[in-house]
Amino acid sequence: MKRLRLFVFMCIAALTASAQKANYNIIPLPKEVKADTTQQFTLKGGMGIAYDSSNTEITRTAEFLQQWVKEATGIQLQLTPEDKAAQIKLSVSAPAKSKKGARGKGQVAPMTEQQKEAYTLSVSGKGILLSATEPVGLFRAAQTLRKSLPVTKDSKGVELPFVQITDQPRFSYRGVLLDCGRHFFSVEFIKQFLDAMALHGCNQFHWHLTEDQGWRFEVKAYPDLAKKGSVREKSIIAASKYRLYDNIPYGGYYTQDDCREVVKYAAERYINVVPEIDMPGHMQSALHVFPNLGCTGGPYPVAPHWGVMREVLCGGNPETLNFLKTVFGELCDVFPSPYIHIGGDECPKERWKKCPKCQAKIKELGLTDDPKDTGEGGRGSQDGRSAENKLQTYINHEIEQFLASRGRSLIGWDEILAGGLTENAIVMSWRGTKGGIAAAKQKHRVIMSPNVYAYIDHPQLKDLSKTPRTTDSYIVSCSKMYSFEPLVPEELTKEEGDCILGVQANLWTEHVAYPEHALFQLLPRLGAMSEVQWCNPEQKDFENWKARLPQLKKLYDRMGLVYCNEVE
Ligand code: ACM
Ligand code: ZN
Repeated sequence: MKRLRLFVFMCIAALTASAQKANYNIIPLPKEVKADTTQQFTLKGGMGIAYDSSNTEITRTAEFLQQWVKEATGIQLQLTPEDKAAQIKLSVSAPAKSKKGARGKGQVAPMTEQQKEAYTLSVSGKGILLSATEPVGLFRAAQTLRKSLPVTKDSKGVELPFVQITDQPRFSYRGVLLDCGRHFFSVEFIKQFLDAMALHGCNQFHWHLTEDQGWRFEVKAYPDLAKKGSVREKSIIAASKYRLYDNIPYGGYYTQDDCREVVKYAAERYINVVPEIDMPGHMQSALHVFPNLGCTGGPYPVAPHWGVMREVLCGGNPETLNFLKTVFGELCDVFPSPYIHIGGDECPKERWKKCPKCQAKIKELGLTDDPKDTGEGGRGSQDGRSAENKLQTYINHEIEQFLASRGRSLIGWDEILAGGLTENAIVMSWRGTKGGIAAAKQKHRVIMSPNVYAYIDHPQLKDLSKTPRTTDSYIVSCSKMYSFEPLVPEELTKEEGDCILGVQANLWTEHVAYPEHALFQLLPRLGAMSEVQWCNPEQKDFENWKARLPQLKKLYDRMGLVYCNEVE
């Protein structure tokens, strides 16, 4: 009897072990998947991965692939760089030179950023071939293979139907913001966040490092800035009107070494870190340390509650620009990003209108109110092309020049349109798409992050009892997020559309204090966002996306990523 039971158990085990099949219907969906399900290649333990071991990037991707296959399936592959007969091959080769082209014989047109990320993944009787023209493409191919594998345990082998996958992203900028100002998140968690981003093909981590409620970036020239500016005495615990606080000091900041560690970890996963120092508003934590930089002289507490603060950097004090250049200088030392975010949002001008220094500067620069309200000022600065908004543009201009001297481009929230855009500013459109469209019409580069589609601090389910407490003025469901189309032909010409670099999801953390909650807000919405960022509009189909989600959720489980289990 015992023997029979063992036999039956072994048969079931053998059956389940052999029935594991790869599925290429992944998220985000590749551009082209040509599968032949009548034939398969069986991936088994002990098989080798061949790659160019003289290239550290390719070697790293080979190691990632080995680790991911083991994680998903239990199959242990071998790193066999020189083995020409290995069943899994990673290949990077320059694109073939065109014989004849617009640029003349033998000349190669420069690749777009998206083309640099292109790859092919083919499975045939010979095995699995991942190929690309740049190592980043190889990394994308390896992620695609990883997501195609069944999530199993102790698998004896995985059957991969023959396939030819050809893929590249739609947009070059595919971002996610994490607000570490309102709440501090450990470097360890940020690494997990980056892993989740890389899984979804994202390539820009927008790190919101400073807020009224906490300064989180170490500036060596001003040791007190992070030491004292990172700590608020208490945090609000209910709706603002109640003014109820926990009376518990809250703090935390990143040393420059921490930031470098994050930059390196991100770069290994082909993610650029875009740091943000939000100015001249959202600066109360800095004013706490340097009250002389405020219009009134303070004192200013590190803000214990949320909202738009009227206390901002004084726009007329020359020390403000010195301070900003020192801070942005150290930021450039630490972050190699081609883009530096200067914030620029929600800067009320109440203090500037009354401040003798600000008004003297306005006079000196000859700034005047324009009779027409452009409506671009937005929350806290609804006075369009006022002299005060132009003073903000003057500050932006100074910082743009400074960043340009370090080889960087400035990104600002769409309020930077209000006083007039500086020459090369990139606009991050958050109050809908209006600001982004206006900027694209001025031939400025744009990143679309419209709040009603892209703000993942908002709930994803209508029934709020099913979600942790968040900013709940509207719902950003997966389907809402998925429906976002940044290039609407009625609004943008082809040339203007080319100014849209990409799309970003933003995770603000007023009400998100813990890693698990942050992941719950992020997932699976990042899966929806990833198709807005990666796929062409004609590929998108929400019901189809939903059908592909269970496979990804299994991988979330395997990776220890918390997620919202319902989708609307
Ligand atoms: C923002 O949400 N204030 C950019
Ligand atoms: Zn002032």
